[in-house]
Amino acid sequence: MRLQRIAVIAGDGIGVDVTVEAIKVVEALKEKYNIPLEINHFDYGAERYLKDGTTMPDEQVEDFRENYDAIYIGALGDPRVPDMTHAKDILLGLRFKLDLYVNYRPVKLTDVRLCPLKGKTEEDVDFVVFRENTEGLYVGMGGIFKKGTPDEIATQEDVNTRKGVERIIRYAFEYATEKGRKSVTMSDKSNALRFGHDLWLRVFDEVGAEYPNIEKNHFYIDALTMQMLKRPEQFEVIVTCNMFGDIVTDLGAQLQGGLGLAASGNINPDGTSMFEPVHGSAPKYAGKDVASPLAAILAAGLMLDHLGYPEPNAAIEKAVVKAIKTNNTPKDLGGNLGTKAVGDYICMNL
Ligand code: IPM
Ligand code: MN
Repeated sequence: MRLQRIAVIAGDGIGVDVTVEAIKVVEALKEKYNIPLEINHFDYGAERYLKDGTTMPDEQVEDFRENYDAIYIGALGDPRVPDMTHAKDILLGLRFKLDLYVNYRPVKLTDVRLCPLKGKTEEDVDFVVFRENTEGLYVGMGGIFKKGTPDEIATQEDVNTRKGVERIIRYAFEYATEKGRKSVTMSDKSNALRFGHDLWLRVFDEVGAEYPNIEKNHFYIDALTMQMLKRPEQFEVIVTCNMFGDIVTDLGAQLQGGLGLAASGNINPDGTSMFEPVHGSAPKYAGKDVASPLAAILAAGLMLDHLGYPEPNAAIEKAVVKAIKTNNTPKDLGGNLGTKAVGDYICMNL
């Protein structure tokens, strides 16, 4: 394999704590499997923004596009930057500028003790969500008129393009085909959002027709959230828009044991992709050695898998399951280890 380059942005808060552990695991796997990886660290985040106003320079985005195979992010968000300017520029900026149109968020219960649903087991909670990651309500189109007056008007446009909707739906069907998943469920709100989400419905039918062997299901988003709690076992692959995907993946994270275990990939199938835990920077817990590094470690696994190394990813998944089964976990997952000790445990079991 050729040398691949990874850019690491630990970011803010517990992002720093968990990234140390995730990269420690990557280094261990690099050694063990002889993976030709170069890992470079970048200091983008709140501290840098407060120091010199830098968030994510265009030249840096170009450097990532040209010279890197993946970007790894810990978490962004700091109470000293209440409007989250830097986080938006870095996270959403990279998603848009690198056209990371697939937000891949697997939801898999590894131990029944961690599931908040009564009577559901590991077999019942095992699906992936593909969240459209470059359009919808996130594009930042709209504005405020007569701000601060009683006549104030605020608009936020929901942008759905045929190209954007088609490529994420197609990606979901291709994934289902490749992984042997039997069904794809699309969720929208086309009963109320008559234009943009009508497009989703039509494109789902059209693209779905190209995959006769895959079952096609559809729920309006309100019904989807209900069904995720009622019968999660019916889901294998869910595809939805940016905003709804944001919401249902936090719900999904809870079904598998919380944000301490939820990992995600922001993927451009033809370019540099980005990997991160779903959780935020939890400033309250920063530097206290309490945050779960498992989501970050699993995100590193998704990254290695994406770079062409499925075996190290499988090794990570296995070690994480073992950590959970044996209570070698942080407090929020039922154990009593610190962040670093959990990272060490995973390294020891790779
Ligand atoms: C996520 C986060 C981000 C999002 C925030 C931090 C802008 O919640 O990755 O799910 O809404 O996409
Ligand atoms: Mn979110």
